[in-house]
Amino acid sequence: MDLSAAKNEIMHLLSRVDPRELPKLVEWMKNSDELDNYFIDNEKVVLQSIAEDLRTSVPPEATFSSESLALQKIRQSSRTHVDAFLYDEEAVDALCEEGKLSRNYCLHCGSQRTAPLEFISHSFSIMELRFLFHHVLPDLTGLMLVDVGSRLGAVLYAGYLYSSLARLVGVEISSEFIGLQKMVVQKYDFADRIEIVHADICTQPGLLQSADVVVLNNVFEYFLDQDSQIRAWLCIQQNVRKKGALLVTVPSMQEALSALQPSGDGLDISPWVEELPLNYDVYLGMDSDPDTLKQIHLYRVL
Ligand SMILES: C[S@@+](CC[C@H](N)C(=O)[O-])C[C@H]1O[C@@H](n2cnc3c(N)ncnc32)[C@H](O)[C@@H]1O
Repeated sequence: MDLSAAKNEIMHLLSRVDPRELPKLVEWMKNSDELDNYFIDNEKVVLQSIAEDLRTSVPPEATFSSESLALQKIRQSSRTHVDAFLYDEEAVDALCEEGKLSRNYCLHCGSQRTAPLEFISHSFSIMELRFLFHHVLPDLTGLMLVDVGSRLGAVLYAGYLYSSLARLVGVEISSEFIGLQKMVVQKYDFADRIEIVHADICTQPGLLQSADVVVLNNVFEYFLDQDSQIRAWLCIQQNVRKKGALLVTVPSMQEALSALQPSGDGLDISPWVEELPLNYDVYLGMDSDPDTLKQIHLYRVL
């Protein structure tokens, strides 16, 4: 049933409801999590099963000791890393209740003064992935996507399940995460469309040149020093040149690049890409979080 037929059915139903009960019914439709079951699709169930498999294969903080720069940057901020693909809001609440995670940190060790701890994730959540493939990107049938820094592979698995992309390539610099992605691709039989490449993206200009969609989710900031970040962005800018190709970034390119000024002065994006407006006001179930979605930006190569 399409949207307009569904609206007609609902209006027909509402016309038959006792007017005294109508406000309660509408309130229930707006706020009840009973309706959330209708937002669970088969693809989400597969993604949840992959997340469950991965949770048993990585440490709880989903970071490896080889990622010393990322660990150091997180430690220096008032943030803690919780991987949003592995742990949804409900799982985070459960970890907090079990005392395995805290939502607060101590402002002065030993005192009672605490402040809310900001969580940062190195992966998209399943909710963000549904937003990405259903509401941000157009029909991708037959096209090729490159996920720069594919980590646990969340973008690749969601792209496999939620789109008809012909080819999904994940490029990841960390060998530990390459092993995990290969394990999932094999177990879930994704190898006909997903490829995993263990490399620094700067050594893969050919992949960037052929890509129709390039995903850059918080990709360099936590993992590379300033000079390497500038080098990586220049490589992206020089090679993602196919007219009409799409780039998805978190945060916006302007925000990522302004953190690199003034040394990143060569990185002027205006002659290269235009930003496309997105509608963030999309209901994706009770765990919808418009503030998180607003971090996602879409650009088209000119
Ligand atoms: C925040 S994670 C992105 C995860 C994934 N794309 C997602 O959205 O769920 C960034 C990843 O980029 C990788 N990375 C950083 N610099 C890279 C580079 N130059 N080449 C390839 N991977 C890189 C990091 O190792 C890290 O796993």
